[in-house]
Amino acid sequence: MAEKNIVETSEAQIAVHWGEEEFYHPTPEFVGQANLTDNAIFERFSLDNFPECFNEYAELLSWDKYWDQTLDTSDAPCFKWFVGGRLNASYNCIDRHLEKNKNKTAIHFVPELEEERIDHITYQELYVRVNEMAALLRDFAGLKTGDRVTIHMPMSAELPITMLACARLGVIHSVVFGGFSASACADRIVDSQSRVLLTMDAYYRSGKLLNHKAAADEACALARKEGQTVDKVLVWQRYPGKMSSETPLVEGRDFVVNDKLKEFYGARVEPVSMKAEDPLFLMYTSGTTGKPKGCQHGTGGYLAYVTAMSKYVQDIHPEDVYWCMADIGWITGHSFIVYGPLSLCASTVIYEGVPTYPDAGRSWRIAQALDVNIFHTAPTAIRALRKIGPEEPHKYQFKFKHMTTVGEPIEPEVWKWYFNVVGKGQAAIVDTWWQTETGGFLCSTLPGIKPMKPGSAGPAVPGIHPIIYDEEGNEIKRGEGRAGNICIQNPWPGQFQTVWGDRERFVKTYFARYNTKPDSKDWRDWPYLTGDAAMEAEDGYFRILGRIDDVINVSGHRLGTKEIESAALVVDEVAEAAVVPVAHEIKGKEPDLYIALKPGFEASNDLAQKISDAVCTEIGKIAKPRRVWIVPDMPKTRSGKIMRRVLGAISNKGDVGNVMTLANPDVVDAIKDLVESD
Ligand code: WTA
Repeated sequence: MAEKNIVETSEAQIAVHWGEEEFYHPTPEFVGQANLTDNAIFERFSLDNFPECFNEYAELLSWDKYWDQTLDTSDAPCFKWFVGGRLNASYNCIDRHLEKNKNKTAIHFVPELEEERIDHITYQELYVRVNEMAALLRDFAGLKTGDRVTIHMPMSAELPITMLACARLGVIHSVVFGGFSASACADRIVDSQSRVLLTMDAYYRSGKLLNHKAAADEACALARKEGQTVDKVLVWQRYPGKMSSETPLVEGRDFVVNDKLKEFYGARVEPVSMKAEDPLFLMYTSGTTGKPKGCQHGTGGYLAYVTAMSKYVQDIHPEDVYWCMADIGWITGHSFIVYGPLSLCASTVIYEGVPTYPDAGRSWRIAQALDVNIFHTAPTAIRALRKIGPEEPHKYQFKFKHMTTVGEPIEPEVWKWYFNVVGKGQAAIVDTWWQTETGGFLCSTLPGIKPMKPGSAGPAVPGIHPIIYDEEGNEIKRGEGRAGNICIQNPWPGQFQTVWGDRERFVKTYFARYNTKPDSKDWRDWPYLTGDAAMEAEDGYFRILGRIDDVINVSGHRLGTKEIESAALVVDEVAEAAVVPVAHEIKGKEPDLYIALKPGFEASNDLAQKISDAVCTEIGKIAKPRRVWIVPDMPKTRSGKIMRRVLGAISNKGDVGNVMTLANPDVVDAIKDLVESD
């Protein structure tokens, strides 16, 4: 593929471009036991059979009432799935397994400290704890169906217990990644209008017990300033019976969950029968402009889709031990630690800490101890594990039948290490491309049917029909090998329903670009814009090249450049800020932050540090800039637009191209000198 054919997009330009690789075939042993080996699924899920084909996924669930209509497009592009149907997500993830599997482990909680014992929670125990928590949320916190609750908790068994307790009541949960700052948490409290916050006093990270409760106090104070009062903060204890955080409880507002629960021991809460299209949760994610948007996922469509994806793409059987290393605070954790695996009655592993703590062998010891056979992680973790312990997996007796990668493109070299060393040449790998918005996978190989190709996500999964458009909206022919903006032609049940409280933004961000009939009720008029650049090879495999919008993918986590820039602008001295992605060996990308100061201020290391700290405070440590470059001026077009492309080229030691059309071409050399002399 010629470089010049790549669409002019910020990230895709800097994205790595690998050659096409050879196919790898799954072992007969894998295929022999796979949930799906019949090619006919693609026929069944062809556009001719749309939307009814998706009934097959919904039938994997237990419904209180069967649906009357598979897809309702009357409010396009806010599509409703399985209309008329009623079900409860908590019932589907717990109650329905009790008859046959109550003694089976639902959750293995692995504390970060190796001297602490792993907690094994059976389905019966999960049932008991979720019921008691649901009773507490309803009767003590006063929550009812349709209310929103913000959950800012670390990786713990109590996190899915809290989520499932919400789901039992039809309370909409909004989980905020534990590593996000108080300020990020406050934004989400305000946007979702939560009056109850769930948190935990402390958790372990790299061997340190971190005070997490402090963030709750700060988040409540910030939310109040924005007009949203949190009247109850419910604090789980990392060690039940004792507080592990020095931050005191606020009288009348804060309550220890573990104490309060005693009043609800033995309580049982009937799962509320929800409409299929009722919201299950919000998951905030970064976009091009403004604050993170709350992606609203529905109950029936979402659960049907993640259950099917877990079964057919991840090949989860009830007897499997499944470990997804993601954090539950991201969509991957929601779909593929909690809802998908539990709906299929698998045992899901929740690990508190860092995969390389205390050493490079930790992950493999966990896999060995629990006899994990399905493993799911992100390229950033694979790169880190490969770097610090390339031979480590050989030392442990674990055997994966299946492995997933998600979050960003994986380099073929890293893929091969994953396959040969972690998978011991036996495990089938799926490279799953999808998004917070999509609920579940868009492209991936079906492991029992299609061969793997390192560096390519694979063909679209059944029922997903991608189309690649160029900038002008012309369709790029299938298999042409030319990059463009990848869209999905049709709705699917896992697709989010709207941006919480902002339908207009939903339509504008995801559909307006290629929609020509804004009043149309026909789904064919509403291709979904994923925001990624991609190309399709002749064999129908898609290669994802990166974002076309201002989103940076750091360690597989989405950060908006605008979010980081506005965090920097909080610092008084800063006049302008521009963020560009820089390639990083482990993280994939890191943000480089360029700053122009207001007149009268001087650049200094202290000031650079202050700006970097502001970004960590506003968003969280994951957004920490690689470097803060204080420059004399930003390179700008004549119309005053900051040329991030030029800054990106400088940060990545690439060619800045022709800059003579800029309003201030001289500044480019000055910035180059600054960065290169470092
Ligand atoms: C990127 C994570 C290449 C992509 C599930 C997408 C990927 C964004 C892959 C969504 C993959 C995710 N190969 N790129 N397998 N998976 N991406 O919302 O740019 O956190 O748009 O969802 O990550 O990130 P999000």
